This record gives sequence, C-alpha cells and structure tokens, in this order.
Amino acid sequence: MDVFESIKTRRSTRRYKPENVSEDQVEKLLEAAIMAPSGGNMQPWDFIIIRDENQKKALARAALGQSFIATAPVVIVVCANKPRTARRYGDRGAEFYSLQDTAAATQNILLAATAMGLAGCWVGAFNDDAVSNVLGLPKNIRPVVILPIGVPGESPRMPPRIPLKEILHYEKW
Ligand SMILES: Cc1cc2nc3c(=O)[nH]c(=O)nc-3n(C[C@H](O)[C@H](O)[C@H](O)COP(=O)(O)O)c2cc1C
Repeated sequence: MDVFESIKTRRSTRRYKPENVSEDQVEKLLEAAIMAPSGGNMQPWDFIIIRDENQKKALARAALGQSFIATAPVVIVVCANKPRTARRYGDRGAEFYSLQDTAAATQNILLAATAMGLAGCWVGAFNDDAVSNVLGLPKNIRPVVILPIGVPGESPRMPPRIPLKEILHYEKW
C-alpha cells in the first residue's frame, strides 16, 4: 500500500476483532512513530504500551467512559516529554513543539497501522490527571493521545471533509 492509499483509507476505527496484535507489529508501529519530524530533532515523545485488561479499563474510564478503548488488544499512549524539548526551546518547546511532534508521531502510527491491515482511533478526550495517575507518569510528561489498535472489526465511512475551496487562501487570509 502506498502512502496515498494509506492516507485515504485510514479511518478512526472503534471496533476490533479479537485477534492479537503481536509485539513485532507494535515495534513496527513505533519504528514508524519515531521517524516523524520533531522540532530540532528533540524527539519529545515517550510511548506506553498497555495490554493489561485492568489498565485498559482504567484508561477507558479516564477517557470519559469511552469503553471501546478497553476492547482493543493493545493500547499505545503517546506522551509528550516536555523537559526533553524545553532544554533547547524553553516554553515554546514544552507547550507547542511537544504537541506537534507527538501528533506527527501519532499520525505515522495510524498510517503504518493502516498499511499493516490494522486500525485504531486517536483518542484525545480524557482527563489528563486521571490518565497520568493510571500510568504513573512523572511530572512534566503529558499524555497526548490514547491510541487503541487492533484488527478492524468495522469499516467506517469517511466522515465528510470541508471542501478545499472553502478553506484555501492564497497569499493572505
Ligand atoms: C485531536 C483528536 C482527538 C480525538 N478524540 C477522539 C476521542 O476522544 N474519541 C473518539 O472516538 N474519536 C476521537 N478522535 C477521532 C475523530 O473523531 C476522527 O478523526 C474524525 O471524526 C474524522 O474521522 P476519521 O479519523 O475516520 O477520518 C479524535 C481525533 C483527533 C485528531
């Protein structure tokens, strides 16, 4: 599958087959993640892999009861390591680049997953403190995305996109 096909066919997928996602597959997803660009190549990302049923359920509760999270065989939590980028870029690194960098890594995971016949859903609606507590995150490590991944058990339609001509500006707004 080439990159355009992966971009087009990736869908937020919230139902998964009971099949496992192997350690090798997870490693491949994370290798794709760390190929993402990052401000000054500071790579302010850390990843937590969750397979334990109780941990997954606790994450689902922390994500405002989005119970589908706990039904995925594996959940990757993408965290922003703010001190790693703040060392060079101060507040801009900690509060701005770290979110862009982790978002880029997340999209790489989703596109790689699509190419591998897997699917996931970017979950950003959660209580930060509750997720940090479940995962034992140190201070200044911010959970950015909860990413349940599995073999897709549904084929969602593409939600409509705003037509390009409505959001495109030339030279000035
Ligand atoms: C920043 C962000 C936060 C999101 N949070 C959630 C979420 O908490 N729960 C959920 O089910 N989907 C969530 N989504 C997925 C979006 O609903 C989905 O990307 C959007 O509807 C477009 O569908 P598509 O991903 O299939 O193209 C989130 C996506 C992004 C990028």
